[in-house]
Amino acid sequence: MAVARARPDVLLLAAGQGTRMRSKRIKLMHAVAGAPMVRRVADCAAAALRPKRLVAVVGFQADDVRAALEGACTEFVLQADQRGTGHAVLLGLARARGSARGTVVILNGDLPTLRPETLRALLRRHRRSGAALTVLSTMLDAPDGYGRIVRDGRGGFARIVEHRDATREERGIHEVNCGIYCAEASRLLPVLRRLRPNNAQGELYITDAVRRLVAAGEKVAAVRHDDAEEVLGVNTRAELARASRELWRRKAEALMASGVTLLDPERTWVDPAASVGRDTVLWPGVVIEGASTLGEDCVVRPGCRVVDSRIGDGSEIKDHCVVQSSDIGSRCEIGPFAHLRPGNALGSRVKVGNFVELKKALLGDGVKASHLSYLGDAEIGAGSNVGAGTITCNYDGRAKYRTTLGRGVFVGSDSQLVAPVTVGDGAYIGAGTTVTADVPAGALAVGRARQRNIEGWVERRAQRAAPAPASAGRGARRRA
Ligand code: UD1
Ligand code: MG
Repeated sequence: MAVARARPDVLLLAAGQGTRMRSKRIKLMHAVAGAPMVRRVADCAAAALRPKRLVAVVGFQADDVRAALEGACTEFVLQADQRGTGHAVLLGLARARGSARGTVVILNGDLPTLRPETLRALLRRHRRSGAALTVLSTMLDAPDGYGRIVRDGRGGFARIVEHRDATREERGIHEVNCGIYCAEASRLLPVLRRLRPNNAQGELYITDAVRRLVAAGEKVAAVRHDDAEEVLGVNTRAELARASRELWRRKAEALMASGVTLLDPERTWVDPAASVGRDTVLWPGVVIEGASTLGEDCVVRPGCRVVDSRIGDGSEIKDHCVVQSSDIGSRCEIGPFAHLRPGNALGSRVKVGNFVELKKALLGDGVKASHLSYLGDAEIGAGSNVGAGTITCNYDGRAKYRTTLGRGVFVGSDSQLVAPVTVGDGAYIGAGTTVTADVPAGALAVGRARQRNIEGWVERRAQRAAPAPASAGRGARRRA
């Protein structure tokens, strides 16, 4: 019978700047498929290991990193001066609340494509071997920049040597350190305390601590991982792009396996947290961000961006729409070229057509706003029809006001609803009306200048101009 094991602690190294990104922001805050890469690592560790404690060592732009890790970490330790990965681990183990005992999983913060299964497998191997420390390695065709795993004559682990400190011969080694370790805290701490910065960068390296463990007669193991792509640290913008692409690719494969059609999976970008129902079709150029939820049998046509939104079953989002933080019911038709700004809730069978902008708009079942409208801070009852060019005037330069329409209201084209204003059930608004006062249920509101027809006006005007016969038309037009 398997012996129940204590859950490990996790130490996330997130204090470094990441100079190779050439960025004003620290490397770990750069987004990979929609979330800061450091958050992806923390979520992976949490999912894989359900750790007792998940401690992040923060330093550069610590407030931003803390905010990005909100809810994922149990504790933060500040590394005010970034004196290297060994220093970060020492602080993390020594300063975290509670004693550093048992197994700790140590992770670089720049591993956004790491899979939970890989961490679990490493932890199993570590515990089975009884090693003081187990490091994950992988084989790279181009290992430049990485720490190399030096093995002894019998293939056992000898040491890790950093690229800058490696000899020419050592630089020829293709097995590299991934920056993922399992260690017994009580055995690692003493060697960390004795670390000295005698290397090319003048830093305290976790990799030097590994060498010291071996020298002290402790068992250290290196476990090789086949999928290099998964366990590569992101250090440059090119690697950042590769990491995002990898997560989007995995998501596309998972969606297709679950019954979603992606017409061109390499040109459809769905964030890992999003979900899409069966038989939904995503066209190329579609971007689904955040924890968006799409139902079954939806169609999302080319060039749409859906952010933190829900879309009900059978709805269609036509070409080039932006949908942000909105809730769209089932069997709706949106777009083409519609802009749903945050805070909308649409019932079922709602139609929002081209060049319609919505903001904090609640549209009941079957509402139609088919062309050229702005509906903001508005509530529109079921079955209402909003004519082309209707505008809710929700802002007076200081504050925002609400427009409330009952059920089955008909708003004629080119009307303005000057909020705050309420229109009762079944009322009609004549085309071109500026509604400034409430309209009772069942009433017709018309508020536009009365039309006057002046018979024969055009001909009289032409005669007044009395031009030379040959150039009559042109002269008249020029003076008009
Ligand atoms: C490190 C390893 C290298 C390995 C590579 C894998 C060391 C010395 N080298 O190199 O063997 O092949 O990762 O990607 O560990 N950090 C801190 N505090 C510091 C310095 C760094 O918290 O003072 C954090 C960084 O934010 C980052 C992680 O530690 O998350 C690794 O730092 P990075 O500079 O990327 O190390 P590499 O040079 O890539
Ligand atoms: Mg790195």
